[in-house]
Amino acid sequence: MNHLFEKLRVQIRFMLLHLARELRKSSRSIPVVRESKNLFTKEIKIPVFISFVVTVILFYLMLFIVFGINWRAMIATAIFVVVNIILFIVQVKSKEQNIIKDNDAVVLMSFIFVIAILICQVSMEYSSPFITPVAAFSLMGAILLSQRIGTLYAISLSLVVAFLNDFRFDIFLVMLCGSVAVITNVSNIRKRSDFINSGVKVSVVNILIVTMFYLFADAYDSCQFKYDLIYSALNGSIVTVLLLVLMPLFEKLFSRTTNIKLIELSDFNNSLLKRLMLEAPGTYHHSIMTADIAERAANTVNESSLLARVGAYYHDIGKLNNPHYFIENQTLGGHNPHDALTPEMSRLVLVSHVKDGVSLAKKYNIDNEIINIIQQHHGTTSMYSFYHRALEEDVNVNIEDFRYQGPRPQTKVAAIVMMADSCEAACRSIEEPIALRIQGMVEKIINNKFIDGQFSECPITLKDLESIRNSITSTIVGIYHARIEYK
Ligand SMILES: [Fe+2]
Ligand SMILES: [Fe+2]
Repeated sequence: MNHLFEKLRVQIRFMLLHLARELRKSSRSIPVVRESKNLFTKEIKIPVFISFVVTVILFYLMLFIVFGINWRAMIATAIFVVVNIILFIVQVKSKEQNIIKDNDAVVLMSFIFVIAILICQVSMEYSSPFITPVAAFSLMGAILLSQRIGTLYAISLSLVVAFLNDFRFDIFLVMLCGSVAVITNVSNIRKRSDFINSGVKVSVVNILIVTMFYLFADAYDSCQFKYDLIYSALNGSIVTVLLLVLMPLFEKLFSRTTNIKLIELSDFNNSLLKRLMLEAPGTYHHSIMTADIAERAANTVNESSLLARVGAYYHDIGKLNNPHYFIENQTLGGHNPHDALTPEMSRLVLVSHVKDGVSLAKKYNIDNEIINIIQQHHGTTSMYSFYHRALEEDVNVNIEDFRYQGPRPQTKVAAIVMMADSCEAACRSIEEPIALRIQGMVEKIINNKFIDGQFSECPITLKDLESIRNSITSTIVGIYHARIEYK
């Protein structure tokens, strides 16, 4: 009877808490959020084979219409298309397995290629081959897919432009060098304004190559040279405009997380991080510290430090719905709302911060890579303190009922954020945070997570764990050392 009554009490409390949360939500002014639906919703999956066949057909047809019905040109075009496609297949199959497994990425790869040929043909038709913006599409491929795909675009599109202009080597070299100049610098592109620099680079390289041909190859007369110089210089401006216009469009349509997008997400003026700063200052501070720790740890194992940093900024946004239920937002010696809750209720509140984080992130149209980090940052770890409290009331309670619902980290970056998060929170509680104690705590946390199987679903190695552990220890020691010095 008592057991039944207790169960009923838990349910009523949970309903009241849920009701209070809903009321709080509806009373807040809802900020304008970006539309989360895109043209290619996850329900629509275009098979890789279909994307491939459609691209080959369109590629052939777009070259074919330039030459018209002429059997020699038709066969030459077919050979050219086959050579290009083989180049792509060999490279992508052997070095870009991740892209082959991702239908959206294959569709994007085909889409950029077809659009690129179309825009190149239009610009050649109405002005000069020197204005064709091959560099813009090569850079898009490098940013949205990979540097290798960007290089493949550069080679293939430069060949296409040369092919349509009697295989002129000068045009091929201008297109290729302009593209390579921007692709090699892709990791430094972190703001949209960097596209202006890319455009300038393309113009400078194009002008240099055209001048070189004029001086050595005696290829043009001086009047032709002047026009080619003007078009080569203009090419850079077109590259910048296309990048500024098409990149956000492709990012949105194909849900690609680029460095530029991550930098934008890390801006503390954006509404979600601002809310975290104002409504849950303790969680905000914890997230900043976790971000510092995760960023350095990601660097040591050659993972994306920017993704780790931004993932850490957002990992606990779900706490916004109930900030005062989390220790970092409670004042010292103040009231702890968990004292008035049963362990079961406390478990529900803790579990809900992961679910709430995912729904908030979706509502604000945060990228999937960040959402995955939010969802996986506690994996299936157990909430020991509430489990022990529950044990005091009922010895038959099962620890499996006091676990987060996962999934476990699926990527190295998600695992790094998980470790950084736990280590940061645990090291706060060390009374005298000397290096030896911090080292012991970090070691204990990472070992426990490893033994608990939290890293069993991500490709992390023991060597990585060793490097991450050392990095986390030295970052936390550095933080506390600086604080003690300051005191
Ligand atoms: Fe959390
Ligand atoms: Fe956290």
